[in-house]
Amino acid sequence: MNRELNKNYEHLTLFSHGQVQTKMVTDEIVAKATERLQQKGFLNIPVDKQVNLAAEITRLKKEKNAVILAHYYQTPDIQDIADYVGDSLGLSQQAAATTADMIVFAGVHFMGETAKILNPHKKVLLPDLKAGCSLAESAPPDLFKKFKDQHPDHIVITYINCTAEIKAMSDIICTSANAEKIVNSVPKDQPIIFAPDKNLGRYLINKTGRDMLLWDGACIVHEAFAIDKLLELHKQHPKAKIVAHPESETHILKVAHYVGSTTGMINFVKNDDNAEYIIATEAGILHQMSKEVPHKTLIPAPSHEDNTCACSECAFMRMNTMEKLYLCLKYELPEILVPEDIRQKALIPIQRMLEISKN
Ligand code: 13P
Ligand code: SF4
Repeated sequence: MNRELNKNYEHLTLFSHGQVQTKMVTDEIVAKATERLQQKGFLNIPVDKQVNLAAEITRLKKEKNAVILAHYYQTPDIQDIADYVGDSLGLSQQAAATTADMIVFAGVHFMGETAKILNPHKKVLLPDLKAGCSLAESAPPDLFKKFKDQHPDHIVITYINCTAEIKAMSDIICTSANAEKIVNSVPKDQPIIFAPDKNLGRYLINKTGRDMLLWDGACIVHEAFAIDKLLELHKQHPKAKIVAHPESETHILKVAHYVGSTTGMINFVKNDDNAEYIIATEAGILHQMSKEVPHKTLIPAPSHEDNTCACSECAFMRMNTMEKLYLCLKYELPEILVPEDIRQKALIPIQRMLEISKN
């Protein structure tokens, strides 16, 4: 065995026919996985089942002075190992304030990009580069530029669920937690383009009375809620309050007792005195929510599809796993990079949002 080549190795214990074998993770394996990173989206390196992932992640995090920021839609194991779990606004505020040397984003690509835009000199890692977002994909930069050019008198308010290129073409970014406030911060006679989420846009038009021009994008997870099944479920639980995320369609929002961001939804359930709730957002939220209100009944809203969890899960968010999180911390890959010209332009509307959200 070439000792030089294999100085960066660990033992993998493999069990076959009851026998313990060992295999090396060599520099060669790491180099091959790195080569295929763009194609795969993550480092495809086998992890020994014997590795205590939670303990290793905690050790590496300390050793590298890294912070793990996780969204509520991550799996419970990832949420439990994170330094901060929150909604998109809370996560960007944490990313802007962190003193860590490295940020590991347990979320989707646009979240990691936002963290990188705010921290050009820090390493920002995402466990799987292919963890995208249907909303971000719904706004291709070339088409969006044409749309924007057709309405030069409009200012552009963009939901944070978009790519860095779209942020660079925007005037102010918003999240579901501050969208109403951001729209209201714009003078009444100023026409607005709102992108990319048409459902959140329609909700804001109803809330603020502003006639905004909407981009035709949607979240596949929130559009999957079935109103007929929801009403049927409510008939079975007539005392339950319906709590919904504004990315949901108008007919879902119309029957909801509360509409808000993921953090808003958790706070509502916590501070409200009802005992039972139907939750219309990605099912990952139930982990933190049930920690906050262990004595209350939380029922996930049903989706069109008859899946095993009878709920809605974001396939993009669920691409992150503890193994990928461990590998990304260990090898510091995959890393989020944003071209400097785009980063500088995208930073301005993000900073405007953070400023308006301070008070
Ligand atoms: P918030 O957590 O900011 O409400 O956003 C929900 C979401 O869909 C994130 O992708
Ligand atoms: Fe995007 Fe919807 Fe998934 Fe959030 S839940 S990351 S908006 S696809």
